[in-house]
Amino acid sequence: MPVATLIVHGGAGRWDPRIPRAEIDAGLDRALETGWRALEDGALSAVVAAVTALEDDPHFNAGIGAVRNADGEVELDAGVMTAERLRTGAVAGMTDSARPVSVARAVLEDGRHVLLAGAGASRFAAERGLPLAGREHLRESARALPGSAGGTVGAVCRDDRGGLAVAVSTGGVSGKFPGRVGDSAICGAGFYADTPGAACATGQGEAFIRLAGCRRAVEMLAAGLDAPTCAARLIEELAERVGGEGGIIVVDAAGRPGVARNTRDMPWAWRTEAGAARWSSA
Ligand code: GLY
Repeated sequence: MPVATLIVHGGAGRWDPRIPRAEIDAGLDRALETGWRALEDGALSAVVAAVTALEDDPHFNAGIGAVRNADGEVELDAGVMTAERLRTGAVAGMTDSARPVSVARAVLEDGRHVLLAGAGASRFAAERGLPLAGREHLRESARALPGSAGGTVGAVCRDDRGGLAVAVSTGGVSGKFPGRVGDSAICGAGFYADTPGAACATGQGEAFIRLAGCRRAVEMLAAGLDAPTCAARLIEELAERVGGEGGIIVVDAAGRPGVARNTRDMPWAWRTEAGAARWSSA
C-alpha cells in the first residue's frame, strides 16, 4: 500500500534554553501541517512548503531567523532535489531573500543550472518574480530572539505515488567568514534524493561536505540498510571520519523514517497517514 511520509527538522546543535520548547514544537507542527497540505502536489511541493514555513519562523536558523556572518550580514544557502531524474536546484550566499528555498526550487524547475550564488541568485529570483527582502531587513531580523543554536532546517518526503524529495535552508554558521558556503547548498553533502530514498543534514557543514554525507546515506539505503540504521551509521561516520557534529533525517522508498544526531538537541517531527509523532530533546 502506498505510504506518504513527511519528516521535518529544526536544526542540530544546542538550543538556547530561554526558547520555550512549546514554541519550537509549534513551529515544527506548523511546518508539518503546511507541508502535508501541499502533498497533493507531490513530494517536492511538500518539502518546499514545510521548509518555507520554517524560514518564516524566527525561532529557526533560516530565512528571517538566520544568524549573521562575521561582518554582521546574513548569507543564506538552500537546496532542493527530487529522486525523479535527480532534478536539483540550490542557492548560496543570498543576502536579500527571506525564502531562499523558493529560489532553489526555481533553479531546479528552470533546469539549466544546479547552483547559483550571490548576486546571480538574486538576479535570477528577481527575473522570476520571486520576492526579495531588503538586505537591511534580513540583517535586522537576524537573531531577534535569544540565539538558538539550531543549525539548519530541512524536510524529506515520500509521497503516495512514490515520489521522493528533500529541501534544506540555512543561515549557516554564526560568525562565518563572508563568502563561506555550507553543505546546504551542495548536492550530495547537505541534501540528496535518489530512488532508494532522500536525506537531509544539519550541523557542521564542512564535515558533511567532506563526507558527501547525504549521498553516502542514500547509498547505504541502496545497499540494503534500513532508514534508522543508515541514519545512525552516517552520524557515526561523521564523528569517526571527520570529527563532525550534526544530525540527519532520512526517508526510504517505502516511506520509513530514520533520524540520528550526535548533538545535544535536534527537534524534529514526522507524519504519515497513520498519524503524527514528534521527538525533541530541546
Ligand atoms: N549545516 C549548515 C551549514 O553548516 O551551513
